[in-house]
Amino acid sequence: MPDPRPERRARLLDLLEQHKAGAMAVTHLPNVRYLSGFTGSNGVLLVTQRGARLFTDPRYDIQASQECDCSTKICAGPVWPELAKEVRRQGLTALAMESDKVSHDQWLASAAELGKPVRLKRAKGLVEGLRVIKSASEIEAIRRSVRLNSKAFQQALGKIRPGMTEIQVAAEIDYRMRRLGAEGPAFETIVAAGGRSALPHARPTNQQLKANQLLLVDMGASLDGYCSDMTRVVHLGPPPARARQLYDAVLEAQLASIAEVKPGAACAQVDAAGRRTLRKRGLDKFFTHSTGHGLGLEIHEGPRIGRKPEGVLRPGMVITIEPGVYLRGFGGIRIEDTVLVTETGVEVLTSTTKEFLVIPT
Ligand code: GLY
Ligand code: MN
Repeated sequence: MPDPRPERRARLLDLLEQHKAGAMAVTHLPNVRYLSGFTGSNGVLLVTQRGARLFTDPRYDIQASQECDCSTKICAGPVWPELAKEVRRQGLTALAMESDKVSHDQWLASAAELGKPVRLKRAKGLVEGLRVIKSASEIEAIRRSVRLNSKAFQQALGKIRPGMTEIQVAAEIDYRMRRLGAEGPAFETIVAAGGRSALPHARPTNQQLKANQLLLVDMGASLDGYCSDMTRVVHLGPPPARARQLYDAVLEAQLASIAEVKPGAACAQVDAAGRRTLRKRGLDKFFTHSTGHGLGLEIHEGPRIGRKPEGVLRPGMVITIEPGVYLRGFGGIRIEDTVLVTETGVEVLTSTTKEFLVIPT
């Protein structure tokens, strides 16, 4: 398979031309990684018609030369004076920068460093726009991440018992991910028991699990830089009828949204399908977030699958479908899969069962 990075940079340069800037300083690290391969924590990638150059610090001297397919500049001090020198050397008069990713102070400092003849131009979401459509090798990487995540869930599930704390369950999950080869979790693992499952983004606590409780687990792995994302709700002991009804309602909503996923479908239409099924049961008002999001090198990427009319699905997009209902005092149910938009429809990448699983107590 050919190295995708030169092609990605060429496409970025095409976009930059449309924005009347011949060059860009890429600061957002996932974008730097996408365009150059660099995975360090400090680096700015200068992309110009003459090529690309990564500016980083001496900690990354060896790593940058191993990872990048472009030239590298190791800066003894801050990177910006060196980068500005290169911009002036190439005679550039306009430089695009990710205005939504740098602080106001950083923007002003960069402008001052570049000096008057070089104009900084706001460029938002250009690289993210390229990243929305995944290549075959990126899809394969996400597939492997999803597989690993499901395996870690399966392994951790066998360890869950009443008396464990939410934090201990999260630790078990994170440990399993790493044992299976992940770099780590793609985001802080969510484990929420009982009434706390009504908090869509609960942080695990030292609260102990008890029999006859819901348990919500939202987890994702990062493998070779690529994320997965899955939510499952299980019950400690046999679930009461109300929990089962809610579970079935959320599952119906999730399947309705998945059924809408195909090239050309409006993201809002995918969101509406799930919401509609919940409305029939009077539950839509408890579905308080959007249906899903793209994922890849980051856990939250475009497209957004929500109520707003924000574009259409295209083949190669990888998104989550994760409706949920959250009842104060009772608990919450969310069911989330990672799915691929194919040429003809949808492929659900997550293989973990969506049966309402029961943990023996
Ligand atoms: N699964 C975490 C999130 O989507 O925010
Ligand atoms: Mn998610």
